[in-house]
Amino acid sequence: MSKAGIINPGAMGISIAASARAAGHEVYWASAGRSADTRQRAEAHSLLEVESLTELCAICELLLCVCPPHAAATVADAVIKAGFSGCYCDGNAIAPGQALQIGERLTAAGIDFVDGSIIGPPAWKEGSTRFYLSGPSAGQIADLFAGTVTEAIAIGGEIGKASALKMVFAAQTKGFTALLSAIQGAAEALGVRDDLDREWARRDPDVAKQRVNQVRGVTGKAWRFAGEMQEIAATFESAGMPPGFFEAAHDVYQRLAHFKDADETPELEEVLAALKAGGN
Ligand SMILES: NC(=O)c1ccc[n+]([C@@H]2O[C@H](COP(=O)([O-])OP(=O)(O)OC[C@H]3O[C@@H](n4cnc5c(N)ncnc54)[C@H](OP(=O)(O)O)[C@@H]3O)[C@@H](O)[C@H]2O)c1
Repeated sequence: MSKAGIINPGAMGISIAASARAAGHEVYWASAGRSADTRQRAEAHSLLEVESLTELCAICELLLCVCPPHAAATVADAVIKAGFSGCYCDGNAIAPGQALQIGERLTAAGIDFVDGSIIGPPAWKEGSTRFYLSGPSAGQIADLFAGTVTEAIAIGGEIGKASALKMVFAAQTKGFTALLSAIQGAAEALGVRDDLDREWARRDPDVAKQRVNQVRGVTGKAWRFAGEMQEIAATFESAGMPPGFFEAAHDVYQRLAHFKDADETPELEEVLAALKAGGN
């Protein structure tokens, strides 16, 4: 059984940590600088607490980084600085080029690097969540989740492949929601939102309502999706595809980022007003 560390137990990270525990591994987290919500999740799932990242790096042989994508490089650099010498998996939604750069720095510091990406909601039930892994040591990370609801799938020895898969997948899901948000914002500004809803409903009676809920429902995560859109833009550019779709999607999510701390899901009118105000 291994000693694994999770950086950090957010909504997704805690489910991944819980799977590793369910497989019989010891799972640690570092509490310094983390919020009451993160502590609550870690305690609810009996993760073992250490205070600092340095302690986490000294105790664990495996580290899983599952944090906001914009923090992935900073976390990896902090792990190098803390003197870690085991196997490190970045499971974040980052561009393959970014994964390669992080991997190069970690490898130069004597750390074994595995590229990872997670598709699906937090892993609480069978069949919902895939943890894609790539790199020569992918098997070491996959073993952490044997027999659990986190389905670990190694997709080759090449760093960047797991990240690339996540990028093209999220380009469709999160990219489409950003497009839908901008479409409804434009329809509102042009005075044709009701007409658009009616036209949508003529084609499929449920679709207009679904699209409203999709736009309202994304607001709480927009702050995190903004960074992910920049990663997708960089991915498309590296693949010779136009990055502009996702630069615009980044702008859409930035305009909604302040809904992060909202107590309730905002009404569509509030979302559309925020989209419009952000463009002024
Ligand atoms: N949630 C999903 O459904 C889902 C699905 C697929 C993939 N993922 C991937 O999972 C990763 C994390 O998502 P999540 O849903 O777990 O996010 P989350 O619930 O917002 O949790 C993020 C965790 O990272 C910590 N954190 C925040 N800012 C940080 C920083 N600057 N440096 C280091 N840690 C920081 C947070 O701690 P504090 O709050 O204590 O600061 C929290 O524990 C992302 O890369 C995402 O793409 C998530």
